[in-house]
Amino acid sequence: MILSIESSCDDSAIAITEIATKKLLFHKKISQELEHSVYGGVVPELAARLHAEALPKILEQVEEYFPKLKAVAVTSTPGLAVTLVEGVTMAKAIAVALDIPLIGVNHLVGHIYSLFIEKEAEFPLTCLLVSGGHTQVMEIESLREIETVAKSMDDSFGESFDKVAKMMGLGYPGGPAIQELAKDGDRVAYNFTVPLHQSPLIAFSYSGLKNAVRLAVEKADGDTTKYRDIAASFEHIATKHLTMKLKKYFKTKPPKTFAIVGGASANLYLRAEIEKLLKPHNAKLLLSELKYCSDNAAMIGRVAVEMYEKEIFTPIDRLMSAPRSKL
Ligand code: KG4
Ligand code: ZN
Repeated sequence: MILSIESSCDDSAIAITEIATKKLLFHKKISQELEHSVYGGVVPELAARLHAEALPKILEQVEEYFPKLKAVAVTSTPGLAVTLVEGVTMAKAIAVALDIPLIGVNHLVGHIYSLFIEKEAEFPLTCLLVSGGHTQVMEIESLREIETVAKSMDDSFGESFDKVAKMMGLGYPGGPAIQELAKDGDRVAYNFTVPLHQSPLIAFSYSGLKNAVRLAVEKADGDTTKYRDIAASFEHIATKHLTMKLKKYFKTKPPKTFAIVGGASANLYLRAEIEKLLKPHNAKLLLSELKYCSDNAAMIGRVAVEMYEKEIFTPIDRLMSAPRSKL
């Protein structure tokens, strides 16, 4: 069995995964959404303090598994420096106390493997990762052959939802709140420009759209009936930006198996629009179960099983938390 820890942002989570069967034996996550909501975003120092309280509480619940643990895995990159270190320190302590190897897991690889909880992995795969920290397209051949072919030049898809929600006083995280508000709105009421629509680049950008939405919110001058249409038009253009760039990308590399992962992959409008885009290619769409889209330790444990089988361990003095990932 492997114990895995996730603390890269605002979710404290621990999982136990059986190595031979990949079965998830235990998973518990304590989210900090309420605590950060008043600030409209994650406050790193507050998040770190909350991890320091929550992780030991969850750890107490898995003590019965300790004698059977073969390794301890932890998200070591990317994420918030002050929160990653909470998980890494705990993982090192467990590794020393139980004399078992350490596995440092890349959080983005974790999101990819959220597709394969209790399942065999399926590659090759073209994967769109949309989270609070990342918007990128990756070509994946195997655990260790992952190439990023497009990424955001500024804000991420999920982050733009968080910022728009903050402008409207909807709290954090913004994605679910905007999705809910957009449901009954008019998607073409506001004619926001699709980012980079004239650029040949296959890349993403959300800061311009965010600023256009800010002007619309200011113009609404507190008239919250207009927020519904702003949210719907924003969600439409934010998604159209992704589908337009993917359509261009598919001209050179038609998709066979395509996946959407990350917290924002829970967005139903995005899922529906990507489905439409894949139809003419007859491509298969893989999605994570909704409960594994946002940050969790089950996906970290699932990657760790693959790494354990390939004996990819990190010596205790070499395992560092790194806010920026190489992917
Ligand atoms: O993967 P995740 O839990 O954390 C990071 O690794 O960043 O993603 C969190 C992000 C937040 O920005 C949140 O607003 C966004 O995912 N999100 C959504 C939805 N649910 C969560 N964005 C759009 N629509 C949603 N339904
Ligand atoms: Zn994440």
